[in-house]
Amino acid sequence: MRTTVGIIGAGPAGLLLARLLHNAGIDSVVLESRDRGYVEQRQRAGILEQGTVDVLRAAGAGARMDREGLRHDGIELRFARRRHRIDFPALTGGRSVMVYAQTEVCKDLIALQLKEGGPLLFEAEAVAVEGADTDSPRVRFRHEGREDVLECAYVVGCDGFWGVARKAVPEELTQVFERTYPFGWLGILADVPPSHDELVYARHDRGFALLSMRSPVVSRLYLQVPEGTDAESWSDEAIWDELERRFETDDDWRLARGPITAKSVTPMRSHVHEPMRHGRLFLAGDAAHIVPPTGAKGLNLAVGDVVTFARALEHRRDTGSDALLDAYSATCLRRVWQAERFSYEMTTLLHRPPGATPFEDRIQLARLERLASARAAEQDLAEGYTGFALE
Ligand code: FAD
Ligand code: DHB
Repeated sequence: MRTTVGIIGAGPAGLLLARLLHNAGIDSVVLESRDRGYVEQRQRAGILEQGTVDVLRAAGAGARMDREGLRHDGIELRFARRRHRIDFPALTGGRSVMVYAQTEVCKDLIALQLKEGGPLLFEAEAVAVEGADTDSPRVRFRHEGREDVLECAYVVGCDGFWGVARKAVPEELTQVFERTYPFGWLGILADVPPSHDELVYARHDRGFALLSMRSPVVSRLYLQVPEGTDAESWSDEAIWDELERRFETDDDWRLARGPITAKSVTPMRSHVHEPMRHGRLFLAGDAAHIVPPTGAKGLNLAVGDVVTFARALEHRRDTGSDALLDAYSATCLRRVWQAERFSYEMTTLLHRPPGATPFEDRIQLARLERLASARAAEQDLAEGYTGFALE
């Protein structure tokens, strides 16, 4: 099998890249190790930055998002039993975000790819990338019980944090920057209308909690839990009791309960792999970088990477110049590190690490007080949350 761009992974990064290349008249093949149902059901991100929304629309993948997505103009910070709203458009010159789940973005892109695009193979597991530093890199993969080879002009590793593409970058050329956190998120989906019309990020002495949503009738909520927690060790009642405590306010706000339909724990990690390119192998999305979910940045970063790659490859086709491909890693990393910083700051602002000292608690509350009283601080958060511009 032969193609111009071999794409490993059909998460948001790989699927959107295939769409962008199709629109540019460049052929690709997507290899995905899991089945379609798994990719379409895997609960993850919920927030699309304005820039991501614009990219999906321009790619012809925004119709259902525009019908069903929920535009959000702010978030609420909750701490010390108080509530403070951050007004995005007022602070950023009109920017907002969209609540539209990653599962839905993937469903839309898969349907488009199968209808109009090049091959998208499910249950096709890439085993290794070979010849990354030659003009004809190859992806070895397993599909329908057979080993096969995809011959490419370029390979893009969109295979997430646990993928194989990153391993093809020689260790001596690689630098990894990492931080783990001693807590994770217990996430639930519940059949109950969201108890607030915007997301609520709560800092509490018992730990962080987040109220989000999937639709006007489905809530998505998260609780900070100790690292290594088993989701099944939390009964539904214990989850609602704990959420209720962490969202407590002095006014008459109430958390509505409903049947919990999914429960899982996500570990928290910051991770950057430099460089994001080796020869004709390019890394995009979670394959190259992970952020803790507090800033809602992971999917949006993946989108930025593949837009940068698609533009660079088009530039090469149209001008013969490799300049943008050569700049790919440095261009992406500038934005990646801003998102890493933002996600780290949101995480340390809102979570209570085990063993936090009274001094650290007071500093955290002082940071929140500053956000609630100084427009400059609010503006910084609003700009980060609604997204850093693509270069
Ligand atoms: P993935 O979605 O991980 O896709 C990689 C794909 O590659 C997978 O389908 C995998 O099966 C496939 N694959 C792996 N190995 C191979 C192989 N060897 N061969 C073939 N295929 C392979 N981000 C946000 O922007 N906003 C949010 O609100 C947000 N919330 C989050 C909440 C949670 C609980 C979690 C866990 C994440 C959240 N994120 C959020 C992060 C976001 O989900 C990820 O950053 C995003 O999925 C990255 O997309 P990706 O395509 O790079 O990787
Ligand atoms: C969601 C996830 C996040 O990480 C976040 O910061 C906001 C919302 C969500 O899944 O809805």
